[in-house]
Amino acid sequence: MKKKVLLMGKSGSGKTSMRSIIFANYIARDTRRLGATIDVEHSHVRFLGNLVLNLWDCGGQEAFMENYFASQRDNIFRNVEVLIYVFDVESRELEKDMHYYQSCLEAILQNSPDAKIFCLIHKMDLVAEDQRDIIFREREADLKRLSLPLECTCFRTSIWDETLYRAWSSIVYMLIPNVQALESSLRQFANIVDADEVLLFERATFLVISYCQRKPHRDVHRFEKVSNIIKQFKLSCSKLAAQFQSMEVRNSAFAAYIDMFTSNTYVMVCMSDPQIPSEVTLINIRNARKHFE
Ligand code: GTP
Repeated sequence: MKKKVLLMGKSGSGKTSMRSIIFANYIARDTRRLGATIDVEHSHVRFLGNLVLNLWDCGGQEAFMENYFASQRDNIFRNVEVLIYVFDVESRELEKDMHYYQSCLEAILQNSPDAKIFCLIHKMDLVAEDQRDIIFREREADLKRLSLPLECTCFRTSIWDETLYRAWSSIVYMLIPNVQALESSLRQFANIVDADEVLLFERATFLVISYCQRKPHRDVHRFEKVSNIIKQFKLSCSKLAAQFQSMEVRNSAFAAYIDMFTSNTYVMVCMSDPQIPSEVTLINIRNARKHFE
């Protein structure tokens, strides 16, 4: 099942950077070396078994953009499942950015009217912390208004923190076929092992694709934080030519297990019952694998 994902936005807004971090194991610092994308760069990312994301990273220099809307229009905008439009929050040419965005929406409306649309207000790290909320709300309201009759979902992102993972997890979540079945299996598993929470990560990207929460937790951003931390750790392991397999973090009141699960996923199981020994939970994880393959 192939899904075409268009990644668009003006040159330098950060499209190739985010793609390289999420899908190609770059760290944020490495993206400074990326050159401008010439025309369109295609990549196929195998995700969860039979779901393949067909990413079209569309170089944002004006000459290319004009081409997408004219001679390449059908080719680019046909059969699009998802449009991800990246805005540089610090751009000095807001009006021009909006103009290109609207041209893009027009082409989508003609060629792929059912496509889902996401706008990323990117490079948020460059905005003072106390201004981030205000600026994001403003931009979001403008974009929603300008997108009509289409609907767009907005995220604030930066390659320098975990917000990038939150946005991409939400996007990918919407593309997973049969996600309800996955969620109900996960709930069943969490109940059986009596976990506070169970998370399922996609194996290559460490994006959270499903979770079951049985006890409240005060940090609503914990998923993307864990994605970010484990991804960094996994990259450190690969520098030592070692493969990340599993991890156990515990104190006297709590234990979390991260373990390879199916051929496409890692699982994280959080337990707060100190009576249950690690071995039991690890055996439970092992036994659950076949039900999720
Ligand atoms: P084209 O290929 O020309 O369309 O550009 P692009 O949108 O692919 O931009 P690219 O990913 O090459 O990024 C341009 C520069 O922005 C790089 O130097 C990145 O390091 C930087 N950058 C990307 N994301 C962020 C971010 O979240 N914050 C900051 N401060 N810089 C970023």
